[in-house]
Amino acid sequence: MAKFKVEVIKEDCIGCGACAAACPDNFEMEGDKAKVKKAMIDEIGCSQDAADGCPVSCIKITKLK
Ligand code: F3S
Repeated sequence: MAKFKVEVIKEDCIGCGACAAACPDNFEMEGDKAKVKKAMIDEIGCSQDAADGCPVSCIKITKLK
Protein backbone atom coordinates (compact mmCIF):
# COMPACT_ATOMS: atom_id res chain seq x y z
CA MET A 1 0.00 0.00 0.00
CA ALA A 2 1.25 3.44 -0.89
CA LYS A 3 2.48 5.50 2.01
CA PHE A 4 2.87 8.90 0.42
CA LYS A 5 0.83 10.99 -1.96
CA VAL A 6 2.74 13.44 -4.14
CA GLU A 7 1.08 16.34 -5.93
CA VAL A 8 2.11 19.40 -7.88
CA ILE A 9 -0.10 22.41 -7.32
CA LYS A 10 -0.15 23.36 -10.98
CA GLU A 11 -1.54 26.85 -10.50
CA ASP A 12 1.55 27.75 -8.50
CA CYS A 13 4.18 25.94 -10.60
CA ILE A 14 6.41 28.37 -12.48
CA GLY A 15 7.93 25.64 -14.62
CA CYS A 16 11.50 26.04 -13.44
CA GLY A 17 12.22 22.34 -13.89
CA ALA A 18 14.12 21.91 -10.62
CA CYS A 19 11.94 19.00 -9.56
CA ALA A 20 12.51 17.07 -12.78
CA ALA A 21 16.25 17.71 -12.42
CA ALA A 22 16.33 16.65 -8.75
CA CYS A 23 14.04 13.66 -9.17
CA PRO A 24 13.62 12.49 -12.75
CA ASP A 25 12.26 9.22 -11.37
CA ASN A 26 9.05 10.90 -10.30
CA PHE A 27 8.79 14.28 -12.02
CA GLU A 28 8.67 15.31 -15.64
CA MET A 29 7.85 18.50 -17.44
CA GLU A 30 4.65 18.65 -19.43
CA GLY A 31 4.81 21.88 -21.35
CA ASP A 32 5.56 24.57 -18.79
CA LYS A 33 4.27 22.65 -15.78
CA ALA A 34 5.66 19.79 -13.77
CA LYS A 35 3.87 16.48 -13.69
CA VAL A 36 4.15 13.75 -11.10
CA LYS A 37 4.79 10.36 -12.64
CA LYS A 38 3.58 8.34 -9.66
CA ALA A 39 1.22 10.10 -7.28
CA MET A 40 1.17 7.21 -4.81
CA ILE A 41 4.54 5.94 -3.66
CA ASP A 42 5.84 3.66 -0.95
CA GLU A 43 9.21 5.34 -0.42
CA ILE A 44 9.52 9.09 -0.50
CA GLY A 45 13.04 8.98 -1.96
CA CYS A 46 14.02 11.87 -4.19
CA SER A 47 10.48 13.26 -4.28
CA GLN A 48 11.34 14.87 -0.96
CA ASP A 49 14.39 16.52 -2.54
CA ALA A 50 12.20 17.81 -5.35
CA ALA A 51 9.70 19.26 -2.87
CA ASP A 52 12.47 20.83 -0.80
CA GLY A 53 14.06 22.35 -3.90
CA CYS A 54 10.95 23.80 -5.49
CA PRO A 55 11.36 27.60 -5.38
CA VAL A 56 7.65 28.22 -4.94
CA SER A 57 6.97 25.22 -2.68
CA CYS A 58 4.19 23.91 -4.87
CA ILE A 59 5.00 20.23 -4.43
CA LYS A 60 2.82 18.75 -1.75
CA ILE A 61 3.65 15.46 -0.06
CA THR A 62 1.06 13.87 2.16
CA LYS A 63 1.92 11.00 4.43
CA LEU A 64 -0.89 8.48 4.32
CA LYS A 65 -1.99 6.48 7.30
FE1 F3S B 1 7.24 23.64 -10.87
FE2 F3S B 1 8.45 23.61 -8.59
FE3 F3S B 1 8.97 21.77 -10.34
S1 F3S B 1 7.99 25.39 -9.79
S2 F3S B 1 8.69 22.76 -12.32
S3 F3S B 1 7.04 22.08 -9.33
S4 F3S B 1 10.40 22.69 -8.97
